[in-house]
Amino acid sequence: ISILVIQGPNLNLLGSREPQIYGSTTMEDIHLKLGELAKSQSINLSTYQSNHEGELIDRIQQAKQDMVDFIIINPGAFTHTSVALRDVLAGVAIPFIEVHLSNIHQREEFRKHSYLSDIAVGVICGLGPVGYELALEAATARLNK
Ligand code: DQA
Repeated sequence: ISILVIQGPNLNLLGSREPQIYGSTTMEDIHLKLGELAKSQSINLSTYQSNHEGELIDRIQQAKQDMVDFIIINPGAFTHTSVALRDVLAGVAIPFIEVHLSNIHQREEFRKHSYLSDIAVGVICGLGPVGYELALEAATARLNK
């Protein structure tokens, strides 16, 4: 089983970025933890972060070539803006879970809409870094059944 974790813009700043909203855990901490969980279940886990919409799209197109089974994505602000990200996820037809650290429904109005949620397998938000672990668990359960 091969799973790709994609982190959108500004998630490389986790730990120092608005810690009252996003907490103090760094992206590296999250990836380390996910890596350990994946390893214990013999899952091949890759991680990728970019601040650039086009690079995220290229990486998702590549995932199709690489026969990635599942994507866990926190699209950051592109959640609320990117038709192109929606189109590539629909285009490659790799099932995915959308994750947000914060509860996007508790914040500004513009964060309530996601271009991805209706084509996602599921959406996890508001649970902080644990959200990624739950997404990995859900993805594995789905792929194993
Ligand atoms: C986020 C929520 C988005 O609205 C925001 O633009 C982010 C992070 C989250 O993880 O809570 O960059 O996706």
